[in-house]
Amino acid sequence: MASTWPKIERRVEIVFVEQKYRIRPQIQSPNSHPRRNRQRPSQKEASHPQRLRLQFRRPSRTRSLETPQKQTDYTKLNFWTDLAILLEKENFHALFLADILGPYDVYKGPHNHGPVVTSAAVFPVNDPLYTVPAMAAVTKNLAFGITASTTYKQPYALVRRFSTVDHLTDGRIVWNIVTSYLDSAARNFGLSTQVEHDERYQIADEYMDVLYKLWEGSWRDDAVVKDLKNGQYAVSERVRPINHQGKYFTVPGVHICEPSPQPTSFLFQAGTSKSGREFGTKHAEAIFVEGQTPEKVRPSVHTIKNPGQQKYGCDPESIKFIAAINIIVAESDETAKVKRDDLASYGNKEGTLAMFGGWTGIDLSTYSDDEDFRFVKMPAVQSMIYH
Ligand SMILES: Cc1cc2nc3c(=O)[nH]c(=O)nc-3n(C[C@H](O)[C@H](O)[C@H](O)COP(=O)(O)O)c2cc1C
Repeated sequence: MASTWPKIERRVEIVFVEQKYRIRPQIQSPNSHPRRNRQRPSQKEASHPQRLRLQFRRPSRTRSLETPQKQTDYTKLNFWTDLAILLEKENFHALFLADILGPYDVYKGPHNHGPVVTSAAVFPVNDPLYTVPAMAAVTKNLAFGITASTTYKQPYALVRRFSTVDHLTDGRIVWNIVTSYLDSAARNFGLSTQVEHDERYQIADEYMDVLYKLWEGSWRDDAVVKDLKNGQYAVSERVRPINHQGKYFTVPGVHICEPSPQPTSFLFQAGTSKSGREFGTKHAEAIFVEGQTPEKVRPSVHTIKNPGQQKYGCDPESIKFIAAINIIVAESDETAKVKRDDLASYGNKEGTLAMFGGWTGIDLSTYSDDEDFRFVKMPAVQSMIYH
């Protein structure tokens, strides 16, 4: 490994060649989640054991999933495959992986990545999607919830990535739709600051429209025939361009992947602002809610269910809720406490303060220890602060 800074060389410029598509009549797209609007063939429902059964089971006498020491091996493939095997063995329905696109650099900032680099507070961050095919290869039923943002990448690229893993997992992919909340990400995607909060949800809404058209409206279910005798893989008349022309996106063409088992990924969402809730009730099949007790979780569930009922006419019971809690499993309370203390001993104050800075956008280093603290502007992730 080099002990000096590597020389940064000029890279070869990549030129994208525009493809010309044959224009066909505009297709009708579903204006909300397709699984809520139409029934998929029952055979497909039967072949996907995870769908809408996302309650997490209590693991029986499991050993600790990973010790903090083991977590430093996260760059090794067997870290992920061992974890997947363990979760499947213990009857977990799904593994969820969060993702962010920049460092939490507000604390002692601005633009200070130092504390997160030292403490590994959600940094470095590899792309979680690439771990999925390996985990799928060693499991049969475990589903994979992968976070991806609608704010910085084009829908045409994202739909390809998720269709590919939906094929490779035989329909076990879940997408956690986020709109992102970090200035550090915005800057590295070429913006001087983030797109305004509510506009991020408007972009996300059109994004979903494009995805539903590509996932559900571009290829007919019977398009792929694999007729080797007659030299025909798929019937071209059964594959059509989506001709999407909207405020934020222009996607004229056909979906670059053939229909995968779902084909629309199972959809998670976690935004709990007003526009986040509206988006969730329109698109999500499962919503993350914060709160460590039923009393704290209940109001969020009620508020999210109500607008859903009124505005989109969907059955509120069709939305599942996932409450985020930390559970430490052990044979007895005492052993659990020992485990908890051991975990806590790896805690890092600077890293924690840096994470608080990322979630809230507030730099606590500018406050003295006994100064009164109040939120005067909206935190970046509201639900993490208000619960
Ligand atoms: C439990 C939970 C998990 C989240 N995970 C992520 C994540 O992995 N990546 C991300 O960019 N945002 C994540 N978020 C943020 C939200 O999805 C959302 O983009 C953000 O909170 C702004 O939306 P809001 O103002 O509607 O809450 C998470 C939020 C919650 C409550």
